[in-house]
Amino acid sequence: MEAYFLEWLNMFFRWFHVIAGVAWIGASFYFVWLDNSLENPPQWKKDKGIGGDLWAIHGGGFYEVAKYKLGPEKMPENLHWFKWEAYTTWLTGMVMLWIVYYIGAESFLIDSARMDFTQGEAIAAGMGFIIAGVAVYEAMVRSPLRHNGKVFGLILFAFLIFMSWFAFQIFSARGAYIHVGAILGTIMAGNVFLGIMPAQRALVDAVQRGESPDPKYGAFAKLRSTHNNYFTLPIIFIMISNHYPMTYGHEQGWLVLVAIGFISAYARHFFNLKNQGVSKPSILVISAIMLAALAAAMVPAKIEAQKGETILTDTQAMTIIGQRCISCHAVNPTHAGFASAPAGIILETVEQVLTVKDKMIPALQTGYMPLGNLTKMTDKERQQVMVWLSK
Ligand code: HEC
Repeated sequence: MEAYFLEWLNMFFRWFHVIAGVAWIGASFYFVWLDNSLENPPQWKKDKGIGGDLWAIHGGGFYEVAKYKLGPEKMPENLHWFKWEAYTTWLTGMVMLWIVYYIGAESFLIDSARMDFTQGEAIAAGMGFIIAGVAVYEAMVRSPLRHNGKVFGLILFAFLIFMSWFAFQIFSARGAYIHVGAILGTIMAGNVFLGIMPAQRALVDAVQRGESPDPKYGAFAKLRSTHNNYFTLPIIFIMISNHYPMTYGHEQGWLVLVAIGFISAYARHFFNLKNQGVSKPSILVISAIMLAALAAAMVPAKIEAQKGETILTDTQAMTIIGQRCISCHAVNPTHAGFASAPAGIILETVEQVLTVKDKMIPALQTGYMPLGNLTKMTDKERQQVMVWLSK
């Protein structure tokens, strides 16, 4: 019963998280676009202090947008802030992290072959990992390094490569991906909370006092918002990656994450340049080629019976699957914490097994299944079942 309600909580918060995330990233993409599409306003607008002018049509109406060079003469009654999208995304994301990876640490976070954590230790390690990642970023962004965006970017990237590798030494592959994602997400929400919001408050205060705002705040917020911009595509990849065991389940899953993170941030660069009036479609082409090359480099080894290996009979194969899989993959799972067959996959009869063969082979080959090898499948059994499935 408990597992059943946990499933509903999982669904509700995942749904909420996606909605908030769409609102956050949507608003952020819109403002980046807006900022870079502004045109030179007519003189009468310039006289009012307007630095950028834009007209748009959407949903059956005309919109006239004006961006002030510094600030309006007097504060409008209503000023929209766009911060709750970010905070809500982060908060619901943290709830998801607890529901899926911390309550379900045994299944999703711990890989006893890497670190034989207890649930409490795994949670502490997870939280510590995220806090350490964000602390290093905050220290960097407050150091003189912030004056050199390019060097900052390189060091940040090197640090994230290290964290990706490190996560793979202590967590399960899927747990590692989500924790790198949690660092990125927390840095992003922190950038809003600790950098962008204070800068905007300083801007509003200055306008209210009738002074011109100190540009240092704007520049500081700009660096943080640039980082957020490059993080968007990689973080969305991490969110969807848990449907693709061939990524995190790869022997060098941390390197796959680094590669896809790099490729997607590079693709984002195309849009940033384009918005600044520089069109370099080659960036998108190169990104696509890099992704295809990655896929080609990761083609899994062919499954073949070893010399002298006899292929299992159906009954023998089903006995192994019965021992290693159906405590979870059954109409009524007996494994604690599972209310229904995970991913809708039921492995109780030969027919059921053969219909999901194409998903089963990669799940076995990458070691993703049995989850966390909780049912202690041996390498030999794994090989035998794969050979039987591919016969
Ligand atoms: C401890 C419970 C558990 C055991 C044991 C287990 N699984 Fe799973 N399995 C899961 C969960 C949970 C998911 C859904 C994971 C997800 O959402 O990515 C899953 C998903 C799958 C998928 C779908 C993967 C995809 O492509 O999305 C396959 C195939 C699968 N399991 C096969 C197996 C096989 C084969 C075994 C036995 C060798 C096995 N599982 C043992 C819990 C288990």
